[in-house]
Formats: sequence, C-alpha cells, structure tokens
Amino acid sequence: MSDNKVILNYDGKSFEYPIVDSTIGDRGIDISKLRDQTGLITLDLGYKNTGATISEITYLDGDKGELFYRGYPIEQIAEKSNFTEVMYLLLHGELPKAEQFSSFENNIKKYNFVADELKKLIDVFPRSAHPMGVLSSLTSALTAFNPKAVDVKSKEELDYASELMIAKFSHLCAWTYRKTQGLPINHGDNSLNYVENFYKMAFRLPNEEFELDPVVVAALDKLLILHADHEQNCSTSTVRMVGSAHTGLFASISSGVSALWGPLHGGANQAVIEMLELIEKDGGDVNKWVAKAKDKNDGFRLMGFGHRVYKNFDPRAKIIKKAADDILGKLGIQDKALDIAMQLEKVALEDEYFIERKLYPNVDFYSGIIYRALGIPTEMFTVMFALGRLPGWIAQWREMRLKGDPIGRPRQIYQGSQLRDYVDIANR
Ligand code: CMC
Repeated sequence: MSDNKVILNYDGKSFEYPIVDSTIGDRGIDISKLRDQTGLITLDLGYKNTGATISEITYLDGDKGELFYRGYPIEQIAEKSNFTEVMYLLLHGELPKAEQFSSFENNIKKYNFVADELKKLIDVFPRSAHPMGVLSSLTSALTAFNPKAVDVKSKEELDYASELMIAKFSHLCAWTYRKTQGLPINHGDNSLNYVENFYKMAFRLPNEEFELDPVVVAALDKLLILHADHEQNCSTSTVRMVGSAHTGLFASISSGVSALWGPLHGGANQAVIEMLELIEKDGGDVNKWVAKAKDKNDGFRLMGFGHRVYKNFDPRAKIIKKAADDILGKLGIQDKALDIAMQLEKVALEDEYFIERKLYPNVDFYSGIIYRALGIPTEMFTVMFALGRLPGWIAQWREMRLKGDPIGRPRQIYQGSQLRDYVDIANR
C-alpha cells in the first residue's frame, strides 16, 4: 500500500485501488472496479467497514466521542443554537443569516396546516396502535396529498418540499400522540416557533388554557437538536436507499420512520424506560441485570448501552445526562428510574465485560428520562426522536439526489442450492 492506493494481489495478478481522501476521519478504498477486474465482491455484514457514500453533512469520531454538524461541534450547537436554525444548517450547509432564518421560518409557517382528509385516516387506527406505525403511515399518505414528484434540479422545488415536510411532520407527530390519548386534533399556531408550536399542538388540553413552560420548551429544543442527524445510521441509510430509486421525499421519510422504530435503533429510548421500570419492579438489584446482560445464554441486553460507532462516551449522552439533572431539578421531580439508571451506569462502566467491549451509555439512555419528566408517555419517545431526526433525513436525501448517487443495490454471496430440476408435487 502507498499513500494514495491499495494494491491487491490475487490469482497471480496485482490490482490497484485508489484511496479516497476525507477532510477529517476515515479515508476509504475505492473498490468500484473490484468485481470487474477480479470477479470478487466484498462481504461486510452490517456495513461495519463500508462507506456507502461521500457526505458533507455530519462528522463523528466514535473513538474520540466527537460529533460535528456541518463542522460545528455538537456541544456548541446544543448550547447556543436552536432547532430551527439547526434544521437550516443541516439542509443548506451554513448557519443562516438573520434574513435567511426568518424566510425559512416563515415558509414553514406558511405550510403549517394539514389537509382535513388526513384526519379521517387517523380515525381508522385503533387507539392502541403504536404511534410509530401510525406516523409512518401518515407520512407516506402525505404523498397522496402532494403527488407531484420533486424536480431536484430546481432549488425552489427542493426547498419547498423540504419546508413542507418539516411543517407537516410536526402535525403528524402531534396528532399521533393525541390519537393515543383520545384527544381532539389541534391545528398549528403561527405566533409560536416550531418547537413551541409542536408542543402546544401535542399537549394542549381541550378544557384548559395552555401555558408554554419555558423549561419544557428549552428541554425539547435541546433533545431535538441532539437527534437531528447522525450520518449513515440505520434509518438514514434506509431513507437514502429508498430515495436512491428516485422514490419521493415523503415516501422515503416514511421508510426512515419504520427503520427508526426498531429497539436497536430509535426504539431504544422506549426500551430503556421499560427496562428501568422492570428492574425497579423486580426489586432494583442492578447487579442481577448487569449479570443477565453479560450472560450469552440470556437474550437480555442493557438497553441504552453500546453503539455501532461510539467506542467511547456518546457526546450526546453527556449533554443529555446534564440536561436530565437540570430538568428534574427545575421541575422538582424525583425519579426512581433515574436513580436506577445512575446505578446501572456506575456498575456497567466498572465492569470488565463492558470495558473490554467499549460499551458506554448512548443518547437513548437518558433521553427517555427527560421525556418522562416532561410528561410524555413512553410510547411517544421514538416519535420525538423521529421529529428530531427529520432534518437529518431530509438533508441526506437531498445530498444523495443532488450528487446523483446511483440506485443502492448491494450484491450477495450465494450459498444456497446449486441448479436443480423442478420436481412435480406428486413425486416429492
Ligand atoms: N448489552 C450487553 N452486551 C452488549 C450490548 C448491550 N447493550 N451491546 C453490545 N453488546 C456486546 C455484544 O453482545 C457483543 O459481545 P461479543 O463480542 O461477546 O459477542 C459486543 O458487545 C459487540 O456487540 P455488537 O452487537 O456486535 O455491536 P453492534 O455494533 O452490532 O451493535 C448496538 C450496536 C447499538 C445495536 C448494540 O450495542 C445494542 O444492541 N445496544 C442496545 C440497544 C441500544 O441502546 N440502541 C441504541 C443505539 S444509539 C441510538 C440509535 O442509534 O438510534
């Protein structure tokens, strides 16, 4: 190997593959000619070593525990920015100037309503339906109300579709929640900012004046920022893969919602709280549950621990942990689940099994505790994650289409039966 290429010796021949440079972090080997030249393909289950694209949106270093949005460290963004500005940053690549910010915010407000027919769709779901399933269906249904395919060569059309998606999705998230609670559907209030508007739409009771609690709004804003993008994770890769077939934005985002739902991904925030409640009910012996997580014959995993890329503290978890302490303090909430979470974290971080495998608390370990303190029901946690991740999905979808990435179509190594003749049913 030299600096800019890798040499592969195979079958008595030598092949050269160029190295693709990065601005920071992993460089890659461009193997696009590998199969043509050698007849070989690569095998990388779970894509642990595979770069699926070249991106300029988010950078993370899992060993150092660093996360940057468009070059800005997450710590600065979480402290100084707000969710609307972060959405603009992810979509457009730069922090907005004042007039760009107000134009972006005003456009979102312009689309701040959802067609009444969509409400009828909500009515057909049983109240017991999981909100993520409802959200995915409603997101896909947006296509029916906006059937024109986006011409990605037109910046105007692309921005219009992105802002429309952002405006409507907050309604779908709020309505999904209200459905589970049996509450009437609310409409947006354009005097409020994006997060306040969502909060009011979701949580306003029909028989009470609604007051925006600034502590709750600030906490929600921070959580949404921390979830806004995370490069090529499972749901984002799904959005890019679906979009690579030139499927529309709304249908692509709907597939991202479904991918996020899984307990190994965004669904972990719900799974963490359910686990903490289970441990509490079982008497609160965290050592017993840590032992179960280590036992290979026991299917139990410590939810909220471990990450595909972070082999150090998830920087988002550090920020959330501090926010959880602040919010519980400000709201005067004592939460047994938080005590158990602290004990679990301590035991696990000192345990050889977790140290050896570099398993640290991830973003979902603490987010559920904050959501719970804010009065959000457990089944809604992943919907909150989806609302946060939306700008990342859109930014990645736009980037993929604008760069003209080809349709995603992995290959496989086939180990099934060899060619054989069909046997008639009577002779099997
Ligand atoms: N509890 C116990 N053991 C674990 C855990 C855990 N939470 N996570 C990983 N391990 C072990 C695993 O058994 C394996 O051990 P061994 O080498 O002896 O076979 C080793 O650590 C490596 O695990 P892996 O499953 O190969 O790692 P991965 O990169 O494929 O999986 C993960 C990453 C996040 C799916 C996994 O750590 C996990 O299941 N964590 C719990 C679910 C969770 O919290 N998910 C949220 C992720 S962060 C937010 C998001 O992305 O949405």
